[in-house]
This record gives sequence, structure tokens and C-alpha cells, in this order.
Amino acid sequence: KRVILIGPPGSGKGTQSPFIKDEYCLCHLATGDMLRAAVAAKTPLGLNKEAMDKGELVSDDLVVGIIDEAMKKPSCQKGFILDGFPRTIMQAQKLDEMLEKRGAKIDKVLNFAIDDAILEERITGRWIHPSSGRTYHTKFAPPKVLGVDDVTGEPLIQRKDDTAAVLKSRLETFHKQTEPVIDYYSKKGIVANLHAEKPPKDVTGEVEKVLSS
Ligand code: AP5
Ligand code: ZN
Ligand code: ZN
Repeated sequence: KRVILIGPPGSGKGTQSPFIKDEYCLCHLATGDMLRAAVAAKTPLGLNKEAMDKGELVSDDLVVGIIDEAMKKPSCQKGFILDGFPRTIMQAQKLDEMLEKRGAKIDKVLNFAIDDAILEERITGRWIHPSSGRTYHTKFAPPKVLGVDDVTGEPLIQRKDDTAAVLKSRLETFHKQTEPVIDYYSKKGIVANLHAEKPPKDVTGEVEKVLSS
């Protein structure tokens, strides 16, 4: 299956990804994770740090290039989850072209529908284990030891853009530039709306239902 996860910051895309990835053996392509890895490794891609720290999007060509390259991996041939891409109509059109060339298409778009008001608490309480992508939350999903990954014992980090102020601009960016992408796929009849405000297990159940149908 080829699946897109779309939703505002903190709606649970990254949290649900490991489950979908394991259950359906799909490769997980998250443009945000890839860009943050580039910042940490100080590669040229990491020069986009400034836009990311402000909650603005990086250029369409750049992320389209990243995804085009990543989709060539052998592990991504059976299917993939796109997390955080496409985020503009332009990116969606480019993705369609890329897939057409490969004789493939998107099967489902999971829309993580949720009220903006819930997101600040989720974002400001988030802790991440960078190498695995595991997410924790001080209140909703606390690690066994504060600041430490349950599985590896490695330290957890907080994202630089996870402040209330930057969240505001990330939400504005989402409503202006990314929400139209949901309509783009609605017209193709492949959008499934999730109740992303429910507890993680319930959302997983909804995802399971959509992807097994
Ligand atoms: P990106 O990394 O994609 O960030 P985002 O879209 O803002 O999404 P988040 O990762 O914040 O949200 P999430 O839905 O994954 O939340 P999570 O599951 O962790 O992008 C970052 C930046 O990179 C962008 O601003 C942009 O600059 C750039 N970028 C990336 N892609 C781009 C593109 N295509 N084009 C241009 N620029 C791009 O959950 C959050 C917290 O809530 C966690 O602590 C979790 O434990 C908790 N939680 C999750 N689900 C639940 C639940 N059901 N109940 C209670 N708590 C929950
Ligand atoms: Zn994420
Ligand atoms: Zn909106």
C-alpha cells in the first residue's frame, strides 16, 4: 500500500507511524525527520534550519527531491507511508507525476482531523527518541525514566520548534498551505477521516480499519 498521513502538528502522524510501518511492512518517509537529521549532521540540507525553526515550509523542489530519491530504495518498492509530505498542492502534483512514471498511485490518505485547541498541550509535552522516531509525552505517554528512551536507554530530546509561539505559525502554515491538499485528494475519493483527538490506541484501531478495507 501507498499511504499519506496528513494533519496539523501534534495530530499524531509520527506516533501512529511505527505501528503502520510494522503491521504492513511499509517504509516510513517523514520529510521533517529527514530534514532534522540533516540539521544534526550539518549537511547542506541542514541549511533549512531557519525556516523550520520559524514554522515555515522549506522549498517544494527540495522536499520533492528528497522524496524522489527516497522512493528508489528497495525497501520502499512494496509500499510506503508518507508522513508530512505532500504539504502543498505543488508537492501533491509533483508526487502524482513521480508515481505515474513508476506505474504506481496513492491508495489512501489518512486525514488526522483534530481541533487546533488540543495541539499546544501535545506539542509542548513531546519528547522524542531521534534514532527510532519513538515519541513520548510528559502527560499522555511518559517514559519510564524522565528524558530516557524505554527501549535503548538513550537520551530523549525536545524539538526546537515545539514552543507555543512557533506552533502558532506552524498551524497557520498548515491551514493556508496544507489543508487544500486534503481537498485535492478528496476529489479523488481516497481520503479517510480519523478522529485524531481520541487516545492513541483508538486512533490505531481506526487506521487498522481503513487500511484493511
Ligand atoms: P514535521 O516534522 O513534519 O512536523 P509537523 O508537521 O509539525 O508534525 P509533528 O511532527 O509536530 O506532528 P505529529 O503529527 O507527527 O505529532 P506526534 O505524533 O509526534 O515538519 C517539521 C518542519 O519541517 C516543518 O515545519 C517544515 O519547516 C519542514 N518540512 C517538513 N516536511 C515538509 C514538506 N513536505 N514541505 C516543506 N517543508 C517541510 O504527536 C505529538 C505529541 O502528542 C507526542 O508527544 C505524542 O506522544 C502525543 N500524542 C500523539 N497522539 C496522541 C493521542 N492520540 N492522544 C494524546 N497524545 C498524543
Ligand atoms: Zn511528526
Ligand atoms: Zn483549517
